[in-house]
Formats: sequence, C-alpha cells, structure tokens
Amino acid sequence: MKAMIVYSSLTGNTKAVAEAILEIMPEGTELYPVDEAPEPKAYDFIAIGFWADRENADKKAQGYISTIKEKRVALFMTLGAYPDSQHALNTMENAKKLFLDNNNDIMGTFMCQGKVDPRLVQRFNSLPADHPHGMNAERKARLEEAAKHPNETDFKNAQKAFEGILKGR
Ligand SMILES: Cc1cc2nc3c(=O)[nH]c(=O)nc-3n(C[C@H](O)[C@H](O)[C@H](O)COP(=O)(O)O)c2cc1C
Repeated sequence: MKAMIVYSSLTGNTKAVAEAILEIMPEGTELYPVDEAPEPKAYDFIAIGFWADRENADKKAQGYISTIKEKRVALFMTLGAYPDSQHALNTMENAKKLFLDNNNDIMGTFMCQGKVDPRLVQRFNSLPADHPHGMNAERKARLEEAAKHPNETDFKNAQKAFEGILKGR
C-alpha cells in the first residue's frame, strides 16, 4: 500500500497531529505539507489533515482535496471549537462532502482542539461584548481549553483512530 499524509497547518497544530499519525503508519508512508504534496494519483491511501475555518476545511486544504479522486482517504482536523459541538460536526460533515463529490472512500475521521492563533484571540478581545464574535465567558473558557491542545492525549487518540482505520474497521 502506497500511503501518504498531507496536512495544511497555519500555526503548527495540524502538523503536530500529522507527525503523531505518521509514527503508527506503515513504513514508507510519506508526509507532506499541502504546498509540497505530490499528485494523489500514485497513492492507495491518503490521510488529509486540515484546520477548521468557517465550518469547513481551510481553503488550502480544500484546493488539494479537489484533486483527490476515487481514493481511500481518512480525514483529521484540528479546531478551536469543542470536538463534540454541533459546529465541529458540521465542519467535518462539510469537509467529508468535498471528498464524496469525487467518489472517494472515507475510511475514518479524527478531530481534536487546537490552540487558536493569539492574534485572532486578541481580535475577539477587542470586540464589544455584544458582537457575535465578542468575548464572553463561554468563548473565553473554550479558547482557554483550546490553548491546551493538541496534547499528548490527542496524539495518542489520533494514533488509535488511525490504527483502527488501517485495520479497516
Ligand atoms: C483565521 C482563522 C479562522 C478560524 N476559524 C475557525 C472556525 O471557523 N471554527 C473553529 O472551530 N476554529 C477556527 N479557527 C481555529 C483553528 O481551526 C485552530 O486553532 C486550528 O487548530 C489551527 O490549526 P493549525 O495550527 O494547524 O493552523 C480559526 C483560526 C483562524 C486563525
């Protein structure tokens, strides 16, 4: 099986998860940032990592995903929101649709929180409290939790998820 991991990562969270997953992938699995990823054609299995942006995979990841056709794939995502939130579920569902549009076979998914770029947090902080993106207690708690991720448990969970995916479960 010729396999590769392709990740899109702005601040390093998704890259760190990609590197953890690589540790349990079959020997010879290749790892690429999305800007350097080869054409998908020659690969049997592709793991794609992206960060959440506007309820979908980030734009760079979307560009690459659109080139993947009729492949076995697995998705992993890092995001600021809680993984069990409706926002997280919607985000993953929207990303999955991009793959299904091109007849890919989705073998599994994984997601975990990832610390949000401090510049964005700064922007939230500077907005009025009644602004839809303004800071409030709930958002503050979520951002503080996100700031602790991805952590060792996330890396282990990502590895477990991909071990299961590789076994075809
Ligand atoms: C411009 C921008 C937009 C974002 N939009 C969302 C979003 O819509 N939903 C969400 O849950 N997280 C959002 N995030 C948080 C990132 O998805 C999260 O921090 C992710 O772990 C970043 O991954 P990276 O370090 O690999 O770039 C956003 C972050 C940035 C910088």
